[in-house]
Amino acid sequence: HASTHISALPQEVLVRLFRYLGPEDLCRCSQVCRTWAEVVKTGLLWRHLYPVRWARDHMKTLAVGLRSLCDYYRGPPGEPDQDPDEDWVRNLQEEGRAYQEWDEDADVDESEEACEDSLAISAVHKEKKLLNGMIQNLLPEVGSSVRTLSLAYSAAISSKMVRQILSLCPNLIHLDLTQTDVTDSAFESWAELGACHTLEHLDLSGCEKITDYTLKNLALGLGDLTTPRFSKNSPDCKNKLLKTPVSDIKLLHQHSGYSLGRAHTALVFKWRPGGRSMSCSPVWVLDPVELADIEDAADWTRRGGLAAGNSEGHSSILGVQMQTGGRSCCCRRSMKRSFRTDIGSTYLQQLYGTLGEMQCGHSACCGSDTTLRTVKGVQCEPQATEGSTELWTKCPSEGKTRTEQLGSFRALKFLSLSGCYQVTDFGLRCLSQGGGLPLLEHLNLSGCLFITEVGLHELVSVCPSLNDEHFYYCDNINGPHADRASGCQNLQCGFRVCCRSGE
Ligand code: FES
Repeated sequence: HASTHISALPQEVLVRLFRYLGPEDLCRCSQVCRTWAEVVKTGLLWRHLYPVRWARDHMKTLAVGLRSLCDYYRGPPGEPDQDPDEDWVRNLQEEGRAYQEWDEDADVDESEEACEDSLAISAVHKEKKLLNGMIQNLLPEVGSSVRTLSLAYSAAISSKMVRQILSLCPNLIHLDLTQTDVTDSAFESWAELGACHTLEHLDLSGCEKITDYTLKNLALGLGDLTTPRFSKNSPDCKNKLLKTPVSDIKLLHQHSGYSLGRAHTALVFKWRPGGRSMSCSPVWVLDPVELADIEDAADWTRRGGLAAGNSEGHSSILGVQMQTGGRSCCCRRSMKRSFRTDIGSTYLQQLYGTLGEMQCGHSACCGSDTTLRTVKGVQCEPQATEGSTELWTKCPSEGKTRTEQLGSFRALKFLSLSGCYQVTDFGLRCLSQGGGLPLLEHLNLSGCLFITEVGLHELVSVCPSLNDEHFYYCDNINGPHADRASGCQNLQCGFRVCCRSGE
């Protein structure tokens, strides 16, 4: 038999072969010919994305002088990894800061050479380029096929990037943003596009800037099980969401005012002078104005351990008196621990001061009884539409949130807000509404200093699948399942908030 040339292989066979390749090699393949470039854009090849690991593995490859480690993890995620040790996380944070400083000074000269003297800076730089390349070139093509996205410990990711990614990946199942600098704005598209119906795993551990607004958007994005039109298992819902063409998402994305930069149609290598012949380092095409992005620049300015608003001036505002109706707020009364005093009072004053109501927002305190009370101005209440079967959440400031729901799955099984100390009972209440979280098994609220037993009880009452072994919250709260729940996980953790840290 005459041997068959590889170009004669049918595309399905090529896809099968390409599944054994890592992202770097796939990029190389996309340069071979048009057919291969098309095959590389097959969604099946990009179901599980680990860009931070890819960027760092690539740096490791350069450092040890190997051609390729070829150990990219391309399968679905397994059990959550153990948290890395404190020193490792600190190193990453320092890398982020070093990169920020370099980035600020690099207005004139942003050449590759300028950062070659520091591997740490190069690692973050590489990560940022790869993320931008993914957003501009890869995800518009394959976003609807992406199921897993891990951005954990990224020193380069910004809220804007996350928002763009989430808009382009409406069918995500597993999202890990552990220990990143993201803010609430990253999740705005969930409420706008209804784009997290399929989400099963959400890890926001250590995302200290996350507040109740994110939980509100998450609740909206997860859908509403109490709407009879779209039952949980309705195939109509699933099909509608899974079949939403990426072009629609893109249109909505652009309509929302988020710039995707120039449209590119292929993955392209960037030639690195000095490399060995034909062994150029592959990177996705980048928009030349990437570093001039105003929002990203603002994000970077806030980094370096002094986030505007949240951590600014801890010592100067230390011990601030919170007054509610002429008496001492319960929060202040309970702020015996140093962390509560430093960050707690500052945060609550900022949050509720901004909202025009100087109350702590706790469900069970600052009131004459234990009636659930949430913050005026951001409260969401169920609204029944007369004459229709639709029950929907309406926020007074926004009017009707959505006129059409794509579906209601509430498939969330894993939620970690460990160290998201700004979350309050209001956020938990948002999740409790709309049918609760019937499939939730793992809930980590370690280090959430401002939640109370009332908020916990309300949420747990609508989470029938919750496994006590995987249920974590502050040891100082006498909440639900107190005898069986696992308690706070942050006690011994040096880089995540805990009211008893240092004990
Ligand atoms: Fe209270 Fe950790 S947050 S014990």
